[in-house]
Amino acid sequence: MKFFLDTANLREINEAKSMGFLDGITTNPTLISKENLFHKEEIENHYISICKIIGNNKSVSAEVISTKYEDILKEGMKLSSLHKNIVVKIPATRDGIKSINFFHERGVSTNCTLVFSIGQSILAAKAGATYISPFLGRLDDISYNGIKLIQEIKYIYDEYNFHTKIIAASIRNSIHILECSKSRIFAITSPINIYYSLLNHPLTNKGLKKFIEDYKKKINLT
Ligand code: G3P
Repeated sequence: MKFFLDTANLREINEAKSMGFLDGITTNPTLISKENLFHKEEIENHYISICKIIGNNKSVSAEVISTKYEDILKEGMKLSSLHKNIVVKIPATRDGIKSINFFHERGVSTNCTLVFSIGQSILAAKAGATYISPFLGRLDDISYNGIKLIQEIKYIYDEYNFHTKIIAASIRNSIHILECSKSRIFAITSPINIYYSLLNHPLTNKGLKKFIEDYKKKINLT
């Protein structure tokens, strides 16, 4: 199972890389807006920096902000030309699906985003999306079952042998990660703090405290 980091923050990317679990990056316009980048050129350079940090053969999803077909093509082509690791992230709209098909026919990788239904996932796969990003947390927020949607998409993709890979997005907690892993989902993309939460266990903290106390009682550290 791949662990992608859902961020555009270079410090977090370096931190995840040094912990050894960084398989890729996903960004979105909201995440980019948090990085104090004020011009298109700065944003493009930022994507290149991310690609350089994470290294070879690891994807970096860069999202278009255009919504019309021709504009998505132009913006997507530019994003894709920045670095070979860039995956063009495109929303699951009518113009978005048409653009995904355009890129698929030209060998450009895409990530279909803002996926909230099986219907969107099927059209994205038929258009040739490399990845889709169903948003678990945002479905849970409105009392739909995000994990169930992911499992249903996985079942349909497997049944029909679709090649589109599922990146579970909008991850809110460690249960989301564990459920996706049990369901053999290709990847999850999550903020770094939720990866850290996988390490939380009261017995680890309690045990560590006791080990150090016992050691210090008998052994002179000076
Ligand atoms: O990058 C897309 C997705 O992961 C967004 O998550 O937390 O804004 O719902 P969130």
